[in-house]
Amino acid sequence: MRIPVAVAGAAYDVVIAEDFGGLGAAMAAGRDSGRCVVVTNPVVGPLHAAALLHELRGAGWQPEVVELPDGEANKTLETWQALVQGILALRIDRHTPVVALGGGVTGDIAGFAAATALRGLPLVQVPTTLLAMVDSSVGGKTGVNAPQGKNLVGAFHQPALVWAALTTLRTLPDDELRCGFGEVVKHAVLQGEDALAACEALAPALVRRDASALARVVADSVRTKAAVVAEDPLENGRRAVLNLGHTLGHALEAVCGYGTLRHGEAVAIGLLGVTRYAAARGWLDTPDLPDRLLALSLALGLPTRVPAGVEPGALAAAVGFDKKRARGMLRLVVPSAPGRVDLRSIPVEEVPLLVQALLSDP
Ligand SMILES: NC(=O)c1ccc[n+]([C@@H]2O[C@H](COP(=O)([O-])OP(=O)(O)OC[C@H]3O[C@@H](n4cnc5c(N)ncnc54)[C@H](O)[C@@H]3O)[C@@H](O)[C@H]2O)c1
Ligand SMILES: [Zn+2]
Repeated sequence: MRIPVAVAGAAYDVVIAEDFGGLGAAMAAGRDSGRCVVVTNPVVGPLHAAALLHELRGAGWQPEVVELPDGEANKTLETWQALVQGILALRIDRHTPVVALGGGVTGDIAGFAAATALRGLPLVQVPTTLLAMVDSSVGGKTGVNAPQGKNLVGAFHQPALVWAALTTLRTLPDDELRCGFGEVVKHAVLQGEDALAACEALAPALVRRDASALARVVADSVRTKAAVVAEDPLENGRRAVLNLGHTLGHALEAVCGYGTLRHGEAVAIGLLGVTRYAAARGWLDTPDLPDRLLALSLALGLPTRVPAGVEPGALAAAVGFDKKRARGMLRLVVPSAPGRVDLRSIPVEEVPLLVQALLSDP
């Protein structure tokens, strides 16, 4: 399946395929294959690099491999610098593609290296986590963390191609798969009834990692993200709807301690919370949405409650400090129905009500 994305003057395909077959030819797309740089890490490399290198060589590419250390803790300026130096040491030219094989961390760092080395190299994203397939590999945001905060250094650099090989998800740990489901459900709520109903119907198959079920929701999710990004490539307005569930999700991550609750899990709880809040405020045109999201989260193995011991006061403070706050108002993405969300300005005095919605038991 090939999903065309047109954004910021760039046009590229997101290919959702069983495996890597055809990737080498798609990467060449009308010009000569030559050298390319595959960037991966010590977890993903041993699992999937051999198949990728085989495919690339078969299509006439001469791939070189550069390794990054694994994990969010290594998404740093130092790692980016070492990667750029590793790429430059290969004496590549401006047309040498960088192929990012891994999850969102690999994609973000390799993407930033591709954006900056020689002022820009072609980037091919080969996402191997569900989160990277449905979220980080599409839209052109690249970058690393700084001591001052997450994702504070980076560039917009659209890929030339995104290739999601579903077979790579077979080796993904369960909790990483669940994380991806959090963003899939968010995208389904943004897209509308069709996508949401598909997630509901396919939930048992998704948990079993059924390839056709995964293909359907990855495609829906990519289309949703691509449409939003095409409208607002540099995040000046509409792209903010992608933060649905994230204001509460980020607050939860901060209060629980990063790593306790995984990002996608926190987003799932946050999505449920903001939907309940919308119901409490009478903004929901489809009153069954909180119950549907609760059932869907349970079916996908996502958490539905704030972990025990979390203080409402601490959560309220974390929500209030969210970066989307401006002049006593909190900018919040609120659903009114599947396929309809609004950016609303909430007075900070409302934050306790919002937190209550997060804590209220089903
Ligand atoms: N650029 C964007 O628009 C965007 C959007 C959302 C998130 N992100 C970023 O994405 C990152 C999170 O991405 P992630 O959740 O993919 O995390 P990740 O890249 O750290 O991957 C999670 C773990 O799974 C391993 N892994 C990856 N693929 C595997 C496979 N097929 N089999 C076995 N193990 C595998 C990884 O090596 C890692 O240990 C964050 O840094 C976040 O900021 C970026
Ligand atoms: Zn997210």
